[in-house]
Amino acid sequence: MCGIVGYAGEVQAAPVLLSGLEKLEYRGYDSAGMAIYDGEAIRVAKAKGRLQVLRELTSDGALIPGVIGIGHTRWATHGAPSDINSHPQVSDSGKFAVVHNGIIENYLQLKEKLMKKGVAFVSETDTEVVAQLLEYYYKGDIVDAVIQVLRRVEGSYALGVLCEDAPDQIVAVRKDSPLIVGLGNGENFIASDVPAILSRTRDIYRLNDNEIVILKKNSVQVLNMDKEPVEKEVSHIDWDVSAAEKGGYEHFMAKEIMEQPKAVRDTVSPRLRGGRVVFDEISLTPEQIRAFRKIYIVACGSAYHVGVVAKYVLEQTTRIPVEVDVASEFRYRQPILGADTLVLVISQSGETADTLAALREAKRLGAYTLSIVNVVGSTIANESDDVIYTWAGPEIAVATTKAYSTQLAVVYLLTLYLADLLGTLTPQQYAGYIEELTALPEKMEAILNNRAIIQYLASKFFNVRDVFFIGRNLDYAMSLEGSLKLKEISYIHSDAYAAGELKHGTISLVEDGTLVVALATQKRLFDKMMSNVREVKTRGAVVLGVTTSSQRQIEKEADYVFYIPDCCPMMLPSLSVIPLQLFAYYVSSMKGCDIDKPRNLAKSVTVE
Ligand code: F6R
Repeated sequence: MCGIVGYAGEVQAAPVLLSGLEKLEYRGYDSAGMAIYDGEAIRVAKAKGRLQVLRELTSDGALIPGVIGIGHTRWATHGAPSDINSHPQVSDSGKFAVVHNGIIENYLQLKEKLMKKGVAFVSETDTEVVAQLLEYYYKGDIVDAVIQVLRRVEGSYALGVLCEDAPDQIVAVRKDSPLIVGLGNGENFIASDVPAILSRTRDIYRLNDNEIVILKKNSVQVLNMDKEPVEKEVSHIDWDVSAAEKGGYEHFMAKEIMEQPKAVRDTVSPRLRGGRVVFDEISLTPEQIRAFRKIYIVACGSAYHVGVVAKYVLEQTTRIPVEVDVASEFRYRQPILGADTLVLVISQSGETADTLAALREAKRLGAYTLSIVNVVGSTIANESDDVIYTWAGPEIAVATTKAYSTQLAVVYLLTLYLADLLGTLTPQQYAGYIEELTALPEKMEAILNNRAIIQYLASKFFNVRDVFFIGRNLDYAMSLEGSLKLKEISYIHSDAYAAGELKHGTISLVEDGTLVVALATQKRLFDKMMSNVREVKTRGAVVLGVTTSSQRQIEKEADYVFYIPDCCPMMLPSLSVIPLQLFAYYVSSMKGCDIDKPRNLAKSVTVE
């Protein structure tokens, strides 16, 4: 949460930093700032509000000259969004300026100690402690001071440091928060994520925990905590700049929804060979797979919802018991697992703090960890025993869509892979599923081509106050996702319920005109769902049903219906999620909300 960027080169730093920060705004957007060395001193400009406010304050950077600097876009954790709490934070004398992504957990103790020694603090942030500590420990060598500080701070951080005494360099370090180094020609960069630097270079270093970088315009040195040089491998980014641009769409979310058929195709096709699922990238052996007695799935938010789908699918198909946990709960509940447990970790960013902590806990307890990750080289990907990448490409909108769909696709691939090895499917069933999986992208396209119907439905309901999403089994898993999508980007209150559970309390909230979205795609549960639809209609609800083309009987019960193509029950979530995403998108658009950057949120949640 928060994006940082740093530049050392020959051109004016401020415009470079501003355009980098623009690409990182998805990580936080409640304030922004820059610190630049102007030849005499470090000058700081920062402001509460979107990056645009900082642009205006500095005349697009023209008012703050200099060829080296650091920038920050903030998602507030310690101290409300304000000019003073914005980063960079500077030390008492102004010698050090610091940008930070993460949380310094012991900042209060450190702050108290420094205050007793007469250091005056101006902000409420944990980051200011780092700036003040640097000055406190500084005896003429910045790297020494950084190492002293790192020995004392607890928590997660990606830090960029500018010091007036060495104005030709930025010192940077990370632990449990992402940071990359961009290698240019006569210019070098640090950044929280690749899109920030992609317009200037495609060669990067991915930093590991506690690697310290000394970045100058013509050199990049990486050291460990003992100040020994570390050899880094250059990674070349080969995705297109346009992959991280809107490409003619009004919002990233619209573009990413439309990209889903391609993203699923890109994820599935390389793993299908001769009618079988092949994972060249994993080292899990058939013996290990046969020895698993339990699977845990751990993730947050929408990735957790993929886990809920996976629980139904994996249990039904492989007959291995599956538990699915929200990562922030898993890590503190002393889960019972060991060498006979597979822990499946799902994350788009590969940096989510709770998911990463859950992964580490699972490893500590001796489980085999397999992650499904979108961002190549991210911490979760690096630390898992095996990783299966989703090939969704960069996802910029805060609300996930194409990453979610590719995660689902990997769940199907993995299910078939495990079932094949365990012999829990007949050859005919297996071949049938492979065929269905291959046909998914085309069916997704057909739904997207019908998006005008969803737009019409959104126009009927965009001003409702409450929405309930109900479904059974896999449709319940989809209700969770549909409800989250709607509430996070349109700010309409919504809840998801297992359809049979509604009458145990929540149905008392249903009144005349309450919108209930009833997912009824699962044939064997269709009649049960229709009973639940009747229950809410009797209490005055307006029902929008989502079902497959072959279940037209729904028209007798629901007020409005959206049809998706038929396919095997297990893969219907890949289809039913699309109208739910589109509904949330259009409702949010009609309400005039900031679709790609909803309030209070950030894309990459690197704090607990
Ligand atoms: C919702 C959404 C979030 C993420 C969650 C996990 O649209 O995007 O709920 O799914 O924050 O993030 P990752 O997948 O990066 O671990």
